[in-house]
Amino acid sequence: MGLFSSSTKQVPETHNLPQHVAVIMDGNGRWAKKRFLPRVAGHQRGLESVRQLVKTCVRLEIKYLTLFAFSSENWRRPPDEVTFLMGLFLEALDREVAKLHEANVILKLIGDRSQFNADLQQKMLDAERKTEANAGLTLTIAVNYGGRWDVVHAVNQLLLNKQPIDEISEADLTPYLSMSYAPEPDLFIRTGGETRISNFLLWQLAYTELYFTPVLWPDFDETAFEQALKSYRQRERRFGRTSEQLVSENGSL
Ligand code: IPE
Ligand code: IPE
Ligand code: MG
Repeated sequence: MGLFSSSTKQVPETHNLPQHVAVIMDGNGRWAKKRFLPRVAGHQRGLESVRQLVKTCVRLEIKYLTLFAFSSENWRRPPDEVTFLMGLFLEALDREVAKLHEANVILKLIGDRSQFNADLQQKMLDAERKTEANAGLTLTIAVNYGGRWDVVHAVNQLLLNKQPIDEISEADLTPYLSMSYAPEPDLFIRTGGETRISNFLLWQLAYTELYFTPVLWPDFDETAFEQALKSYRQRERRFGRTSEQLVSENGSL
């Protein structure tokens, strides 16, 4: 699998569609609360939004979709909610992997998996192995993931593999980051109305276009995704250059 150098070095071809979309799926609890349901009912419904978005990305031929499902900070939630979420992951792996495989999806899981129970760890590994030779959408689920963990983990891996080291460059480090198989996200979406990154892909989001919507994750449907894509199409990605430079580099002047 090829490694990508930072996508901020050159102004990319003006793609109308993002190649890589990364999403913080937030607002499940509030969705449930509004309906006088337990928070976990929101997580259950949120899974339906995941299914829909995956389908849409496959149809649109978006190459990479990365979803934040559980952060390294989410262990701080009430034990019952954490247990429910673990059960939901297990169930989703059992039910969905065959369908993802049929749809030619490559499934990847990023994050510190050592904290999960053995059964779940095994299912994650099996799912990745089953789908690794596919050629369609790469769907990455971030579980027990933290952006700071990712960077520190990468540094530690580098130290293990390349001793002794006096100084490292960005290029030395990036192969060890957990998303080294993908270009950096073009479009970041956070549902649920909060306007923060919450320790998601800190390194990789350096030049990503950020989109925040008040729509709660279980309500995030195709129309809501279309709006995010529309907003993305209107952005001008400059990566430090001036607007005029972009026009001349694209040959339209
Ligand atoms: C996001 O929804 C799902 C996870 C973090 C697992 P929340 O559960 O954070 O929903 P709100 O933010 O409380 O509404
Ligand atoms: C971020 O949502 C993590 C996931 C969606 C998995 P949170 O709801 O946990 O984020 P904060 O704590 O409100 O920032
Ligand atoms: Mg939340």
